[in-house]
Amino acid sequence: MIRIAIFASGSGSNAENIVEYFRDHTDIQVALILSNNPGAYVHERAKKLGIPSYTFSKAAFDEGSAVMNILREYQTDFILLAGFLLKVSKPLLDAYPRRIVNIHPALLPKYGGKGLYGDRVHRAVVEAGETKSGITIHYVNENYDEGDIIFQATCDLQPGDTPEEVASKVHALEYTYFPRVIEAVVKGQTSLNPLSPA
Ligand code: GAR
Repeated sequence: MIRIAIFASGSGSNAENIVEYFRDHTDIQVALILSNNPGAYVHERAKKLGIPSYTFSKAAFDEGSAVMNILREYQTDFILLAGFLLKVSKPLLDAYPRRIVNIHPALLPKYGGKGLYGDRVHRAVVEAGETKSGITIHYVNENYDEGDIIFQATCDLQPGDTPEEVASKVHALEYTYFPRVIEAVVKGQTSLNPLSPA
């Protein structure tokens, strides 16, 4: 059994979707959820889903050992960032080489980097008058939103779409593709074409 830890800082709707997707899976399960935010709604979701959830401080995350101990306790093989806002620290990157994957709510390399997350991304996309947005699923490295891209999917935007409408189109793509792409990556099926939906 491959055991996944999900890191999330906020609502956790992707975390919930992934837990549900793998609930009866024969080879993959979500073992735990971790957050830097004690008030994040993802903890409520975890409780409802029967998945253990933990909170850590930014300082503990950067230092690494406490978080590593929890990950070891749950025999974690793979880490997903699903709406997680801290930069991943070196101890974690070293412990999980090419085993940490993030989802970003835009078509990287556009609209990525420090300070561009969640609704801020959708506002920037609307303000720039883009006709498309989408999702990017990528490996995590030491910089925000810069690791190798595994998969992208796009959605069309209409003139007048609000950031909320863009968010809803992007969330729909996330819910459809993130679990399936993770399943393929975890199973070592790395033939996914980064630019075409599976
Ligand atoms: C998702 O849209 C995710 O792509 C984005 O935050 C949202 C979290 O929603 N992540 C980033 O912006 C990371 N740079 P959720 O908490 O409901 O899953």
